Amino acid sequence: MRRSSVSSQTETRPASNSLKSILITGASSGIGAALATRMAGPGIHLNLTARNRARLDAVAATCRAAGAEVSITVADVRDADAMKRVVEEAHRIAPLDLVIANAGITGGTSPDRPFESANGIKAVLDVNLGGVLNTLSPAIQVMAERRSGHVAIISSIAGVRGLPYSPTYSATKAALNTYSTALRPTLRRHGIAISLVISGFVETPLEASISSPRPLRISADAAAKRIIKGLNRRRFRIVFPLSLFFGARLLSALPGRWGDAFFNRLTVDVPEPREGGGDH
Ligand SMILES: NC(=O)c1ccc[n+]([C@@H]2O[C@H](COP(=O)([O-])OP(=O)(O)OC[C@H]3O[C@@H](n4cnc5c(N)ncnc54)[C@H](OP(=O)(O)O)[C@@H]3O)[C@@H](O)[C@H]2O)c1
Repeated sequence: MRRSSVSSQTETRPASNSLKSILITGASSGIGAALATRMAGPGIHLNLTARNRARLDAVAATCRAAGAEVSITVADVRDADAMKRVVEEAHRIAPLDLVIANAGITGGTSPDRPFESANGIKAVLDVNLGGVLNTLSPAIQVMAERRSGHVAIISSIAGVRGLPYSPTYSATKAALNTYSTALRPTLRRHGIAISLVISGFVETPLEASISSPRPLRISADAAAKRIIKGLNRRRFRIVFPLSLFFGARLLSALPGRWGDAFFNRLTVDVPEPREGGGDH
């Protein structure tokens, strides 16, 4: 069993019920940090969690300057017990309205390293799939008791048509796409909404670690803006850019070797995840 890894810097008394309470995993960087920054404002209680305290502190300072109340919790999404505590403590401070399971890592192959390592595969599965389930399972429990709430998952176009240079990453995102669809009717019966974000390339440290063509890439702030617009409308699927999404759908509908031939023309280097022994 994983060593429990959670430390917190949270208010001790419950906040006013009129606050909108939002929990974001992976809030120390990239899309998570951009979401926190864009959502911050008066009347908002942000529960920001990730492993890196210094980066979380920096994001929290920006959010507080915008008028939000902010709680920080340092935790690893791979630790189910820790994530249960993170969710329940956030819910105690202010009943959770929205939980965004965003934390994720990448990992894959390169022309010189054609196969993923066992450690790399495990790391990507544990963070991208295990971490999302560890976040959402306790969130759904507390929301179901109130018959109210909204959960969101940050997935990827890689889950629509698997990328040959990121097999496990693609598999985790495909699993999240299917998981969201499967969960949706039950959540609805319990008064909970679910959104699935299917994102293309976004400028973040994760994306910068990959050497590949990046068609239609957008900034993390632009991605956050689109995600928030979709969340505010309680959309199930929040997709951007649409042309890349439909391109991936087309590739997955065509004979497999056509898509393979397309990807074989690209030179891509996706490093091993740090958690799996990679050094990026
Ligand atoms: N960027 C893209 O092009 C793109 C495209 C499609 C989907 N996505 C998805 O968007 C999400 C965010 O990615 P990003 O691009 O914003 O990457 P990023 O800048 O690297 O941010 C990843 C976040 O996840 C956190 N994290 C990683 N492992 C963790 C763990 N074990 N426990 C807790 N937190 C952990 C990191 O925080 P700490 O290191 O502080 O823990 C960081 O805050 C991911 O799910 C990714 O798959 C990204």
